[in-house]
Amino acid sequence: MFSLFIHAWTNSLILFFICDLQGNFTDFALFRLLKAGFLIRMHSLPYMYLAGVVNSFDLNRKGISMGRRALIVGNWKMNGLIEITRGLAGDILAGLTNREKKRMMCEVVICPPFTGLYNLSEFLAGSALKLGGQNMSEYTAGAHTGEISGIMLRNVGCWYVLLGHSERRADNFEDNDQVGRKTAAALRDGLVPIVCLGETLEEREQSRTLEVIEAQLSAVLSEFSASKGKSHQLVLAYEPVWAIGTGKNATPEQVQEVHAFIRKLLADALGAEFADKIRILYGGSVKPDNAEKLFRLDDVDGGLIGGASLNASDFLAIIDAYPNNL
Ligand code: 13P
Repeated sequence: MFSLFIHAWTNSLILFFICDLQGNFTDFALFRLLKAGFLIRMHSLPYMYLAGVVNSFDLNRKGISMGRRALIVGNWKMNGLIEITRGLAGDILAGLTNREKKRMMCEVVICPPFTGLYNLSEFLAGSALKLGGQNMSEYTAGAHTGEISGIMLRNVGCWYVLLGHSERRADNFEDNDQVGRKTAAALRDGLVPIVCLGETLEEREQSRTLEVIEAQLSAVLSEFSASKGKSHQLVLAYEPVWAIGTGKNATPEQVQEVHAFIRKLLADALGAEFADKIRILYGGSVKPDNAEKLFRLDDVDGGLIGGASLNASDFLAIIDAYPNNL
């Protein structure tokens, strides 16, 4: 019985790779297939590792032969009671299902509040829409009142976790070193950290943007390297604090300058080939009408969306704006 299970499990993985490489199946179809017979594997580390490797590639993206698969993430922040999160996730999922073919170019994740995760875990298991947490503890378990561990997030179906969001840095005094330690904890617990970097308006006006980004990133990279992280196990998000929730966009030039700088720091620390595979998202007042311009930039591999992700049609329009999704 056990060997039968292992056999079926291996076959389904091989099928996964063949389908994905040929581009004839979407991974949505794959997930449905896997879900049907072998749901248990969905939360197993080997599965998530292999799926992560495949998910990080997009053979067609912006003409790059072996590039980075686009990622669009909705950060719902502290919004949504159970019924609302369920309704919103359902509307987004319905939209993705209708776009099954196009969606292949783009991975989509939502990060609801902790209280919505368990309810959505069953509902979204095996679907095109993945779950992420908005934060996690650097510890595994124990006397840390009010905290949630990475293992707990995995337990409710999360693949990703946001770390070092500027609202947490400001409200909860998270510093660069702590964000670095949380990055290591996320890797340890089998989650892909989406680490947020960004300068305040004051720092930009003092021309300190690149210096701030470098300090934030180096704390993350030292932990990432010590954890021997792979390129698909790290996502970075540049979110200028002054552009978050303000309706004020960074200009494409400002965004590309910082993203290219981040890519260079990654190349210096990890090697150019490795750096070329790490996804860098932009966040800060991304809306349906400005998304395409931002997504077309060379070093922008998707978006971290706040306010607009709370409206299914806006969020879907942002997904549609990704160049290869057109
Ligand atoms: P807005 O899209 O509402 O500006 O928020 C961005 C953000 O903070 C995502 O993490």
